[in-house]
Amino acid sequence: MPDAYGFTRYGGPEEQRFLDLPKPVPGPDELLVEVYAAGVNPVDWGVRAGKHRAFLHLEMPAVLGREAAGVVEQLGEGVDGFAVGDPVFGTTLRGGGCYARYALLTAGQTAPKPPSVSFTDAAALPVAAGTAHDCVNQLGPTAGQTLLILGIGGGVGVAAAQLARDAGVSVVGTASAAKREFVESLGATAIDYDGADFGKQLDAALPNGADTVLDLVGGGALDSVSSVISPGCRVISATDPETAARFGALPMSRKSSTATLTELARRVAEGRLDPQVRAVFPFEDAEAALREVESGHPWGKVVLDMTSRSSH
Ligand SMILES: NC(=O)c1ccc[n+]([C@@H]2O[C@H](COP(=O)([O-])OP(=O)(O)OC[C@H]3O[C@@H](n4cnc5c(N)ncnc54)[C@H](OP(=O)(O)O)[C@@H]3O)[C@@H](O)[C@H]2O)c1
Repeated sequence: MPDAYGFTRYGGPEEQRFLDLPKPVPGPDELLVEVYAAGVNPVDWGVRAGKHRAFLHLEMPAVLGREAAGVVEQLGEGVDGFAVGDPVFGTTLRGGGCYARYALLTAGQTAPKPPSVSFTDAAALPVAAGTAHDCVNQLGPTAGQTLLILGIGGGVGVAAAQLARDAGVSVVGTASAAKREFVESLGATAIDYDGADFGKQLDAALPNGADTVLDLVGGGALDSVSSVISPGCRVISATDPETAARFGALPMSRKSSTATLTELARRVAEGRLDPQVRAVFPFEDAEAALREVESGHPWGKVVLDMTSRSSH
């Protein structure tokens, strides 16, 4: 069984394939990790489709994936605070990939994995929960204020809902009708974005308007909630800054630092954050895992279990 999954040229899913590649060598400030679990994100298929090619140079063949958890195999020059054999989780090098037996992680975007946090949960944190953390912090809703999350049922939304709820914020989120109970289990009020009475439900949930809005959908999503966005409401979009600019949105600022990841893992260990990994696919089914995310409607997070490789 080959050890990596990626693509050989930009395009649709038909360009994806299993790859035989040499073990990567860590450069300065990089860690070589044996991957036990890899998170699956919308950015993965976006990279494959060439959406980021203007600013992300990829050598072909390219390996998919941006976040992983595993065990340190080798340290690059200048890496402090980690040792061979440590369980860690973090973000891959830009364009590096981690749907693979081995991946290179950026030391400044990697953290130790607490023993009580599973590799599967840890692999789900850097991109989605990291984005949620940075966005909620930037929006800064305080206890008693409201946060409206557009697209609450996916990886970023479920984490943002829990982080805000933990700070005493009242969370309202848009999701498909099927996800109502799921969203409510996160302590948020669910609003069906396809419901005939969408506007009525929204106004009832936010009678004084929203204090903060996190857009994870883009397109017309912000227009559809404009009735609850008044001057003074702080808005961020993780997906469509152009539309969000019409609502005076703040530009999103991402950190993914070791400190952020450490904080997220601590919350998971304390039972205050659940990345909601609702689908775990064996490595052999990497194509199906990415298809689930590319559908645009996954439940929480999708993760690849790399320990399922027959050669492991
Ligand atoms: N720039 C960055 O650093 C960064 C980082 C992370 C994510 N992002 C972006 O942020 C977005 C969300 O990421 P994610 O990881 O949460 O995605 P995800 O896990 O794929 O979830 C997307 C969610 O959106 C929901 N959705 C689809 N259409 C919707 C609509 N019209 N109204 C409300 N909800 C809708 C889907 O569920 P239902 O339709 O079933 O409710 C799904 O749960 C993506 O565009 C991603 O690329 C950006």
